[in-house]
Amino acid sequence: PFLAAGAQDFRQSNTDESKVPPYTLPDVLKIPDGKEVRTAAQWQHTQRPYVFRLFEENVYGKFPRGPVNMRSKVVSTDEHALNGTAIRKLVDIYFNNDTSAVIHLLMYLPRTHRPAPVFLGMNFFGNQCVSNDPVIPITEKYTINGPGVVNNHVTEASRGSQAERWQADTLLAHGFGLVTFFYGDVEEDYPEGWKQGFRAKLRTALKTAPEEWSAIGAWAWALSRVMDYLQTDPRVNAKQVCLNGHSRLGKTALWAGAADPRFAIVISNESGEGGAALARRWYGETMPIINDHFPHWFNNQYKQYNTHINDMPVDQHMLLALIAPRPLYVASAEDDQWSDPKGEFLSAWHAGVVYKLFGEKAIGSDQYPAVHQPVGDWVRYHVRAGKHDVTIYDWQQYIAFAERFFRKG
Ligand code: GCU
Repeated sequence: PFLAAGAQDFRQSNTDESKVPPYTLPDVLKIPDGKEVRTAAQWQHTQRPYVFRLFEENVYGKFPRGPVNMRSKVVSTDEHALNGTAIRKLVDIYFNNDTSAVIHLLMYLPRTHRPAPVFLGMNFFGNQCVSNDPVIPITEKYTINGPGVVNNHVTEASRGSQAERWQADTLLAHGFGLVTFFYGDVEEDYPEGWKQGFRAKLRTALKTAPEEWSAIGAWAWALSRVMDYLQTDPRVNAKQVCLNGHSRLGKTALWAGAADPRFAIVISNESGEGGAALARRWYGETMPIINDHFPHWFNNQYKQYNTHINDMPVDQHMLLALIAPRPLYVASAEDDQWSDPKGEFLSAWHAGVVYKLFGEKAIGSDQYPAVHQPVGDWVRYHVRAGKHDVTIYDWQQYIAFAERFFRKG
């Protein structure tokens, strides 16, 4: 029963390229009546909402649209943070008058008078992992295992443990701000995490039952609410928000970017299965494996495709296409075969047909590029040397990409 695309057993992972069987992807331009989308207007008005709904119904669950009561409170501002190089703001965002439904934002902004372009991304271990800055409160929520984590809770030793991954100084030196929050504020990352999280706390306000969406859905929705806040902060240029995410948070960034066109640029760093990588390509992590390990990340319907992957009406190139015509960057790492680098590249390549409707060049060739040779235009891709991580090399590419699009703005 587990025979899926090309009669392979998707319960197993494959890392042998010669064993990847042929597969057929759904056509992102095919309208339900059998015709093809031919214009950007048709895509925007008809096909895009249709494809978005397919992802809601089959992968990430409902994206609540209704208004929610939201209040932000600036906890502190320091005009001379990080040795005088940055403004640090700590901002709490409360929902529905529930003081336990709160997102703690950490913001580093350049010390300029102009509203700053920013990179926005969730972090894995709490805001204190992003910098050694001693003022940042330590999260008390559950975290996955990592540096400075004891029994799924962070200790003082976790301060700055992910500073390399965030490169705050590099971003500031290029005139960008950094806005981040811990994804566990919204929902702790384990199958029952929703019980203490926003899916339970806001179920009445959002008219959405916990099982109607998913953890990735909740994290993505929270990114949109942070965008609501950023639009009210005069120090931020909300038209120049570059949404980035790594791994499971890269999957989330893509879904948030698909749902909310206010994100000017979307970046997926090694998002892999359920993110940028094609599900029908039998390589690295597979759908039955991810559903088994992380059942809370996706909706219930997604699990129905474990044994019938070809029945799924979408594949992940269609998620990337939902970002069009906004600039999109997809990045992989050579030693991160679990994320299926080539499957991420091919997905970005196949999304190009939608960018073309808008007259934008995407990735120019389906030839998999060499390491450290970024390719593409409005859709860009690189594979770098090394393991599953976010490195300075990745950031250098993202910064150059954002500078190219924002310089005009
Ligand atoms: C696991 C999981 C991946 C995920 C990754 C991460 O490896 O299988 O799908 O992307 O964790 O978030 O680091």
